[in-house]
Amino acid sequence: MYRIQKNGRSDNMKNLVSASILSADMLNLEKEVRRLEASGIDMLHFDVMDGVFVPNISYGLPILSAIDGITDMTLDVHLMITDPLKYVKRFAESGADIITFHLESESDTADTIRAIRETGVKTAISVKPATPAEAVYEYLPLVDMVLVMTVEPGFGGQSFMHDMVEKVRLIRNKATELGLSTDIQVDGGIDSETAPFVKSAGANILVSGSYLFKSADMKKSAEKLKENN
Ligand code: DX5
Ligand code: ZN
Repeated sequence: MYRIQKNGRSDNMKNLVSASILSADMLNLEKEVRRLEASGIDMLHFDVMDGVFVPNISYGLPILSAIDGITDMTLDVHLMITDPLKYVKRFAESGADIITFHLESESDTADTIRAIRETGVKTAISVKPATPAEAVYEYLPLVDMVLVMTVEPGFGGQSFMHDMVEKVRLIRNKATELGLSTDIQVDGGIDSETAPFVKSAGANILVSGSYLFKSADMKKSAEKLKENN
């Protein structure tokens, strides 16, 4: 039996860091992947944007499968696309280990969760800042992870929205009430200053892009994010 900490996280839940390669040097992606590996980064966060669900376009399947070919890192795919259901299978085949889609997308939520589960990869749902915590409650028993966006999705380098801390707390409390040790991921504006807020509210997987890639010592910066404070 594990003890429940005061923020509702179980003792055996370690903080993990997922590095968003949106801030990586695209012309030297392999080098960047090696840098993540050498820095003790737990996952590689792969942001997919279709220019419709969010006002930006990033990268997709061929790049994911190229990365999958050169690393054993956990590939954490964040789909910011209008119809994720249509692409679940292909992302799984291209190397995704976790597939996150948005509750606000046009695909049916239950069908998309089922489709991700069928591929055997980890299943996650994400909510944009305007979507309340309550919207994810009914799906908690069906997913491995919830991603709480702490900026408006679409771009790296934005400022952390402090109002989202309470949303993390509500979702962690609900998961605990249901007896679930759901992973709670946060994404957007995460650095050494903002990380303590989300961790104490119950988040355990921190996505970070600009903070990690801009730091002179990525390993040290990742350790700072993982600290228990
Ligand atoms: C934003 C993306 C994030 C982004 C985070 O839509 O989902 O993953 O790259 O970047 P930072 O850490 O710079 O806010
Ligand atoms: Zn992301």
